[in-house]
Amino acid sequence: MPSDLKDAGRDVDSLAYALRTGITPEGDVFGGNMAEVVNYGTAFLSDADLTAMATYIMDNDLSEIESD
Ligand code: HEM
Repeated sequence: MPSDLKDAGRDVDSLAYALRTGITPEGDVFGGNMAEVVNYGTAFLSDADLTAMATYIMDNDLSEIESD
């Protein structure tokens, strides 16, 4: 996912923002279960925690264990 996220133009700041608001840099909104994750979960995290999560997601290349 991280390389896909970079390809999609994500960075730590835009990902942290998306986890707080559900809004992506394109102005799209998360759908499906991810909308619930944001609305009932990550929307309530502190800036520091959001930045930490986004940094972790962007820094770890998990592509070799991904299924597509
Ligand atoms: C804290 C837990 C979670 C984190 C940090 C997380 C993170 C992410 C990220 C980074 C994306 C891609 C965002 C983007 O395109 O910029 C995503 C998408 C998505 N996630 Fe999660 N996720 C979490 C939990 C979950 C869970 C538990 C589910 C399902 C039960 C889920 C379902 C989805 C779905 C369906 C999408 C695609 C949403 C869309 O494009 O409209 N996520 N998630």
